Amino acid sequence: GEIDGKIYEPMRKHTTILVGGPAQYWFEPHSFYAFAFLVDSCRERGISIRIVGRGSNILVRDGGIRGAVIHPTGGAFSELSIDSKGHIVAGVGVRLKKLASYAGAHGIGGFEWMEGIPGNVGGSLRMNAGAMGVEMFDQVVRVTFLDEDGVIRTRERDEILAFYRNVQELRRNFALQAVFKGKTDTHENIKHRWHQSREKRKGTQPIAASAGCTFKNPEHIPAGRLIDSMGLKGESIGQASVSDIHGNFIVNNGKATAAEILALIEMIQKKAKEERYTDLETEIKI
Ligand code: EPU
Repeated sequence: GEIDGKIYEPMRKHTTILVGGPAQYWFEPHSFYAFAFLVDSCRERGISIRIVGRGSNILVRDGGIRGAVIHPTGGAFSELSIDSKGHIVAGVGVRLKKLASYAGAHGIGGFEWMEGIPGNVGGSLRMNAGAMGVEMFDQVVRVTFLDEDGVIRTRERDEILAFYRNVQELRRNFALQAVFKGKTDTHENIKHRWHQSREKRKGTQPIAASAGCTFKNPEHIPAGRLIDSMGLKGESIGQASVSDIHGNFIVNNGKATAAEILALIEMIQKKAKEERYTDLETEIKI
């Protein structure tokens, strides 16, 4: 399709909640240098840049995205290997599920919790994704990224500040690849923990199209429990609903629009503020 004579790509094809208008420019680089070149070219022309991997934690508006969307998933971005220290090297386009199964297949434990995370390595680093009490930066050894001056650099874990669901340094520095550590373990133990994680998630998280948890957990109460206790499960606006299974998930019942999802988010935030004096901050990038 076209906007102003430019080719576009529908973002609903690239988000797990299956929502979002077109990207004005869409690029799929296969090497770190092609990525660097694209970023440089866009910055030179004043074209805004967004990096979208699996699109599992974003809400793209119905009007789409002005500027360039870079989708680093092929070629070097999807490579996985083990280095001489037994650490796993993964491109940002690798899905976390795949990283977890690769680690397991090589007898490296500690990655089992990633089986339930729908995102790619890149976005999961950017937001320090987590589950089952573990988060990405517990396992990061170093990250290679493109810095604000267009230079490819590597930083060790202890030089990076990582917080709950936020790594500020990866906002304008774009991660390209990361090295992760695990623990050598038996296939039996790894398999056991993998199944434990799967079982726990099965009954407690929806399988319908969603962007994962909508809000960050406030300090005093998990967002899901708070939303549940306000009786909002099943609440809908158009085709967007608060999941019946987990209060912190918004699911797309088919043809939901970003506007409907945003309206639902705002309704929840307003209620949490008025009835529970709690500010809910979105975890999803809007
Ligand atoms: N709860 C309810 N009602 C609900 C949902 C949850 O009462 O509708 C209660 C649960 O019974 C439990 C507590 O709230 O006592 C916490 O729920 P849960 O164990 O499901 O974990 P969570 O804090 O809601 C976090 C992460 C998830 C991750 C799970 C599992 C955040 C915002 N969420 O959820 O991550 O999968 O732990 O480890 O930190 C995501 O980041 O997108 C995400 C889904």
